Amino acid sequence: MISSRASRPAGPVSALRVGVVGTGFVARRAHIPAWNALPGARVTALCDIDAAALEAAGRAVPGAARFADYRALLDADLDAVSICASNAAHFPVALAALHAGKHVLCEKPLGISAAEIVSLGEVADARGLVLMAQHQLRFAGPARAARACVLAGKVGRVYHARARALRRDRAPTLPGLIERDLAGGGAILDLGVHALDMALWLMDFPRAARVSGSVGVNFARGGRIAGHWGEWDRSRFSVEDFGTGLVHFENGSTLMLECAWLGHHGEEGLGCELFGEAGNLRWPSGELFSQGASFTRESLGAPGVEEPHAAAVRAFHRAVTEGGESPVPWREAAASLAILEALYASAREGREMRVESTP
Ligand SMILES: NC(=O)c1ccc[n+]([C@@H]2O[C@H](COP(=O)([O-])OP(=O)(O)OC[C@H]3O[C@@H](n4cnc5c(N)ncnc54)[C@H](O)[C@@H]3O)[C@@H](O)[C@H]2O)c1
Repeated sequence: MISSRASRPAGPVSALRVGVVGTGFVARRAHIPAWNALPGARVTALCDIDAAALEAAGRAVPGAARFADYRALLDADLDAVSICASNAAHFPVALAALHAGKHVLCEKPLGISAAEIVSLGEVADARGLVLMAQHQLRFAGPARAARACVLAGKVGRVYHARARALRRDRAPTLPGLIERDLAGGGAILDLGVHALDMALWLMDFPRAARVSGSVGVNFARGGRIAGHWGEWDRSRFSVEDFGTGLVHFENGSTLMLECAWLGHHGEEGLGCELFGEAGNLRWPSGELFSQGASFTRESLGAPGVEEPHAAAVRAFHRAVTEGGESPVPWREAAASLAILEALYASAREGREMRVESTP
């Protein structure tokens, strides 16, 4: 388990002034609507290096100042920044924002290496700022129900887990997600990071020891599978469309991760399964299986919750205005990234790799 830092005292913030950096898909679809729906916050500044993306977001927040450079946005009177830029931009933007004294809500992955995330976390802690990775799925009903089930002891000691993020024909088409310099990684870093986060959160973040992994491009550079979201530039596709890894934890348990953007597999979706001594738990289906005198299957039900992105934004807002700790602590994001880095390294070197320990 990763210990959390002491609670931060509440700041003098009333209506939070928020800047959004990166105004593409997720900003316009999730972050800006979530901020606009919060009475205690206002989006007052927008930034994108792409004029069309900035213009499109500006229509949803007509009064917001617009910037082409995040450093200029950070000079504005802001309390917090929602970072929705491409993965590789998360670290420089978040670091500059923290140094400028802004609280940071950042899209996943919080950084493209554990070292980046640890650097951000140290600055956030030193300055008493909230730093949160946007793992919105933790805030949805099925995740809450699964976590409550684990905390109630219905799963028991977890000796193995599966985490899967499988799509058949949904490779991203955006350069920011398929070009290594911008994305940092492919299906694993884009989707796997969500499934891994959920499994680790439900397992209470055991310390990872070593990983054996494999990544590949099986379809994205050829023409056999047509993209459901349209065509991408196959000549510039430089990340993986498939990845898998076996993680060994210091407590003896294991986790199998499988991620794909493309393929012929029958199963699709994001999910995880915990193999526990008391029961087997599946997320997000919310099923708990156990084998005693007979085999039973219990449905956990899913408490209703607002749209997960909105719930996550609300939790971040609460942490900033009421002084709580980050709803998704950077230490957890760093632990996940250390596993994924070791997985990529293992795939490159063809051998099992030690997972660097994180704070
Ligand atoms: N949590 C989720 O479920 C979820 C869903 C989708 C995307 N995401 C994440 O959100 C991020 C953005 O993804 P997207 O799908 O919106 O991509 P996108 O390409 O639509 O948007 C990214 C935007 O960032 C801009 N940008 C890049 N570098 C910048 C910089 N230095 N300064 C300012 N703007 C910059 C780009 O011009 C682009 O408009 C990614 O990190 C992705 O992993 C998360």
